[in-house]
Amino acid sequence: MTFNSQNLSSNRKSKTFNNPERFIEGWYWAIPTDDLRVGEVKAITLLGRDLVIYRGKDRKAVTFDAYCPHMGAHLADGKIENNGLRCSFHQWKFDREGFCIDIPCLDETLPLKLKAWPTAEKYGMIWVWTGEVPLQPLPFIPELEAQDFDVTIISQFVSNCHPHALIINAIDTQYFQTFKRIPAENIFDTQELNQHAITFTNNTQGRKGNFLGKLIRPFYKNDLNYSVCYWYGSTSMITFIPNSMHVHVMFTLRLIAGGKTEGYTLLIMKKRQRTLGKFYNRIVLALGKILSQDFLKVDAQILEKIKFDLRTPVKTDQAIMQFINHLERQPALSWGTWQQARTSRDSETRDNRDKWRDDFND
Ligand code: FES
Repeated sequence: MTFNSQNLSSNRKSKTFNNPERFIEGWYWAIPTDDLRVGEVKAITLLGRDLVIYRGKDRKAVTFDAYCPHMGAHLADGKIENNGLRCSFHQWKFDREGFCIDIPCLDETLPLKLKAWPTAEKYGMIWVWTGEVPLQPLPFIPELEAQDFDVTIISQFVSNCHPHALIINAIDTQYFQTFKRIPAENIFDTQELNQHAITFTNNTQGRKGNFLGKLIRPFYKNDLNYSVCYWYGSTSMITFIPNSMHVHVMFTLRLIAGGKTEGYTLLIMKKRQRTLGKFYNRIVLALGKILSQDFLKVDAQILEKIKFDLRTPVKTDQAIMQFINHLERQPALSWGTWQQARTSRDSETRDNRDKWRDDFND
């Protein structure tokens, strides 16, 4: 990868990055798995759209648009019957695909269907795909793709800044070096797993005098391997300790009103069998939780007040610009309507995007 100058194109013409009115079509967390019991229905607002989510007797989570097609009652007031949902107002019933299957005042039902959204569960969270049919898998950690894992939720948070401004923190090497004094070199290898997922990997010995370097050094012999995998520009999987002890931190974010963020932080490890292995995972996750709350907490003071505008990117911001470039190539939807987003800036952005591609891609 080569650079012609120290100063690079800014993000100012980007159409999706840091835009409070659009988001990437993809999988987004809806609610933690433990917060939805069998027979429960709950109201959620996801990316500006009102939805209901329920769990039928078959234990599967189902997501519908929130309002009844009869007269608009909110279906979160409804009742679960087997695997279907009955509206509380005039008692019309819908099956798990959203088809109306009972209208008490009529002999026959009507050909009505609630809008149902693809729903799945993983990492202790329920996820909703924001389009008709999922085009890509749920976010996964590449090295745990085919493995069982243990997971613990560290925190739920709301932040004043856009999810993109928050999520790029993990590849902001200037910030690591100057603010956190972390042993990170300024070189990431990047790899696109698919249209919606990109990894940034950094192998470094680190600075031996650094506190974190000293703390984690006993746990590994080789270079420190730090990698970040981004999905849909909104979920990041960070792997920060090498060899068999890999611990993964997931930040899963979504855009809320006012261009702000709500999200969860989770810790994930490969599942270990036998009593000792389970004990080991429990200790590491508990330790990771304590360290993460301090070390990985978003730097509230700065990010609460930031008016993010990457006006003057320099060579050290290379990874951030690659993230933006990757993001801009993904299909975007409008916040609230979930319709395909198009603006008059699209053609202008295409020119800009092509320039970024020249600047950043091999
Ligand atoms: S509003 Fe739902 S059945 Fe009438």
